[in-house]
Amino acid sequence: MSQPKYYGLNELREMFLHFFETKGHLRLPSFSLIPQNDASLLLINSGMAPMKPFFTGEQEPPRHRVTTCQKCIRTGDIENIGHTARHGTYFEMLGNFSFGDYFKTEAIHWAWEFLTSPEWVGLDPNRLYPSVFAGNETTPADDEAFRIWHEEIGIPEDRIFKFGKEDNFWEHGSGPCGPCSEIYYDRGEKYGCGKPGCTVGCDCDRYMEVWNIVFSQFDNDGHDHYTELKQKNIDTGMGLERLAVVCQDVDSLFDVDTVMNITNKVTEITGASYGQSCEKDVSLRVITDHIRSASFMICDGVLPSNEGRGYVLRRLLRRAARHGKLLGVNRPFLYEVVDTVVHENEGHYPELRERQAYITKVIRTEEENFAKTIDGGMKIFTELLNAHKEKGETVFSGADAFKLYDTYGFPIDLTIEMVEDEGMTLDRKAFDHEMQEQKTRAREARKALGDLGWAGVEFGKDIPSTEFVGYDHDSVDDAKVVALVVEGEQAEAMMSGVEGIIVLDKTPFYAEMGGQIGDTGVIRCGEAVFEVTDVQKNKGGKFMHTGKVIHGSFQLGDTVTASIDVERRMAIRRGHTATHLLDAALKAVLGDHVHQAGSLVEPDRLRFDFTHFESITPEQLLAVDTFVNDAILRGIPVVTEVLPIEEAKKKGAVAMFGEKYGDVVRVVEMGDVSMEFCGGTHLDNTAKVGLFRIKSEGSVASGVRRIEAITGKQTLEELRSGQEKLLRAAQLLKTTSNELESRIGGMLSEMKEIKSQLEKFKEQASLGEARTFLTSAKEVKSLKLVTAQRDGMDANALRKLGDFLRDKEPKIVGVLASVNEGKVTLLAVCGKDAVASGVKAGDIIKAIAPICGGKGGGKPDSAMGGGTEVSKVDDALAVVDDLILSKLG
Ligand code: ALA
Repeated sequence: MSQPKYYGLNELREMFLHFFETKGHLRLPSFSLIPQNDASLLLINSGMAPMKPFFTGEQEPPRHRVTTCQKCIRTGDIENIGHTARHGTYFEMLGNFSFGDYFKTEAIHWAWEFLTSPEWVGLDPNRLYPSVFAGNETTPADDEAFRIWHEEIGIPEDRIFKFGKEDNFWEHGSGPCGPCSEIYYDRGEKYGCGKPGCTVGCDCDRYMEVWNIVFSQFDNDGHDHYTELKQKNIDTGMGLERLAVVCQDVDSLFDVDTVMNITNKVTEITGASYGQSCEKDVSLRVITDHIRSASFMICDGVLPSNEGRGYVLRRLLRRAARHGKLLGVNRPFLYEVVDTVVHENEGHYPELRERQAYITKVIRTEEENFAKTIDGGMKIFTELLNAHKEKGETVFSGADAFKLYDTYGFPIDLTIEMVEDEGMTLDRKAFDHEMQEQKTRAREARKALGDLGWAGVEFGKDIPSTEFVGYDHDSVDDAKVVALVVEGEQAEAMMSGVEGIIVLDKTPFYAEMGGQIGDTGVIRCGEAVFEVTDVQKNKGGKFMHTGKVIHGSFQLGDTVTASIDVERRMAIRRGHTATHLLDAALKAVLGDHVHQAGSLVEPDRLRFDFTHFESITPEQLLAVDTFVNDAILRGIPVVTEVLPIEEAKKKGAVAMFGEKYGDVVRVVEMGDVSMEFCGGTHLDNTAKVGLFRIKSEGSVASGVRRIEAITGKQTLEELRSGQEKLLRAAQLLKTTSNELESRIGGMLSEMKEIKSQLEKFKEQASLGEARTFLTSAKEVKSLKLVTAQRDGMDANALRKLGDFLRDKEPKIVGVLASVNEGKVTLLAVCGKDAVASGVKAGDIIKAIAPICGGKGGGKPDSAMGGGTEVSKVDDALAVVDDLILSKLG
């Protein structure tokens, strides 16, 4: 058997795509990792996933033969990462696809040619083994594929393996699937497990599956109901890294040229060297793998969060950070690896370089947050753990694990590991239950909001997609009713008073999209009137006008007049155009890392979420406000153009991360200020925004901030009502709004003056009383005793009174009590002579405060105390006499 010829990973990718171009395929760039319109998937996990509509025939592909190299994430095997040679959460999948074009024969022949021809990869055919589907009770064996391999390619029968459904029937979630044929490569004995019977299909690293050719002919509805697809398709997938492992004859995915360069960077930073110990290698591989996944995910618009793909990302980053800790790195360091990830991959993924600064920032922020979380959460974890231990429990509860997850962002696997380090186990079932509960709560909440209201309605292919004419028209008078929906079912007619959905063949109504809410208005047919309260677009491109028939009735096929509420639309236009200006302003003031993370455009109101990692200063906010208003005042024409996507990119138009765009895109340009991909409705000149005001700014999630702002009439209204409030306030103070500030200033100093006079009066009054106390003091041997209760005095006033007594009369022993809001305050003072003869204020308070149910103490000449038993004040004061006598002996 001969050795393979060496090719670099980047070379192999190019060779594959080029090979299939020579076979009439259209080369497409990798799709985003974020699935579009596919609720069955969190992240793209195969070459075919983003192309499901082409397989089912729902959408027309750009060509019926396509080839791609698709970035993929699979986290199902996350525990295995680093331990095996062939698993990574991130990988690239090479694929050639036929949508109802060629089928088994060509797919098998081309795969063989690519792998074995000396002109291409040139692998030794004696090292390759195909497998085919063996069949089961419901689906027959794939004799056809067997025949092609044997008779046409010439593989001896005993070298073709037959496997069951787990290995040779491909499906992932719902959608297209079918039997498949896989090609294995024998890497040689040195990679084998050496066990007897080790052959193709063994779990060890010797026979590696490199290529999977799926004869995609069924559609799974998600509940394992299979229907035959109208067209027969080919879906293939070859792991690019695996092919490189073969060609480079290296141990594992992590030893492939470009991946190794990343590991090298990790070793450089961590100081751990590769091949030193098993544990260290695992950590290095985990970090290398996870940083690749994370960089690509962030590049496509995923941000760390506690749910969905955001959680996948958070978990990857936190896992990598933890392995960094295992290698002894106790500071953020992952972000330093991004540059190498970009460098190794930018040839095929230029967007990485464009967003490098941003990716770095997101990772660094998450690492810093995690460090803080760990510190805060560790304390809580220790408390929870100790509580379990004190009760003699060996199982850490699911509820506690959930609390750590939900409040402190501890990934569950981290908690498990920490619990196990303590020799305990974690109640995983209970944790999963808590998670499920949370999901149910979220779903219920969504349902309550009604966003699933119409999602269930399916329309046949015979109902055309709606043509949107609302960029140029506010009303059309020749639209046709192509579908009616009442109570979730299609209907022939809709009667007066009924709520439902009307679908038209064309419409001026904008359907909620890209943050801009749907139009409202009316649909009329003669006397009949349907009030439209919302418009949504369904997957098939149909505009669902939701509302109520308020007069007459509508029939399928009616020709109607559809008119939007023009005033409202105008206000929405103002909001949307202002949103683009705001985006530009934020980039100009805060930097290029700012990108849109979400938006909501309503009539004269907008909400804009964007990525930024620090708080925003009042000066920056003012600069943003000024930038937008300057752009408005310049009266810049707003120009929309429909362009081929490449041209739009070249012009520098800003796209949303992770958004899927067609071959032609709509670009909205506002002079030198803004140019964005956008399907929304805009003004024709920025001046028409009117006045723009920021209403609020704050953080909504880690790294995401939100600005709420108003435009046009809304601003006007707020200014007016603000002015009116000012006027009313001025009238109350009998002045004008211009004089209001100085009037208030004057009043405040007047009040201050009055207050201080009042204080003086009070003081004088209490000193007057003090003098009376002195004259009426009781003689106790050589000393003078005053005891008195004066309710309503606070501690301060009491002390002043006491100080006066003490300073005036050296022989004085004064004990004062005051009841205030149900509490007793006690004060004792002793003059110089009293203290000299052994009577101390502190002792008195210590003795009498307990009588009032409290405590206290202090210095010999002055002490305070308190209590809660209001009725005991007399008793407390009554014992002072004897106390003094006992001290004086
Ligand atoms: N879709 C097939 C796979 O992912 C090719 O293996």
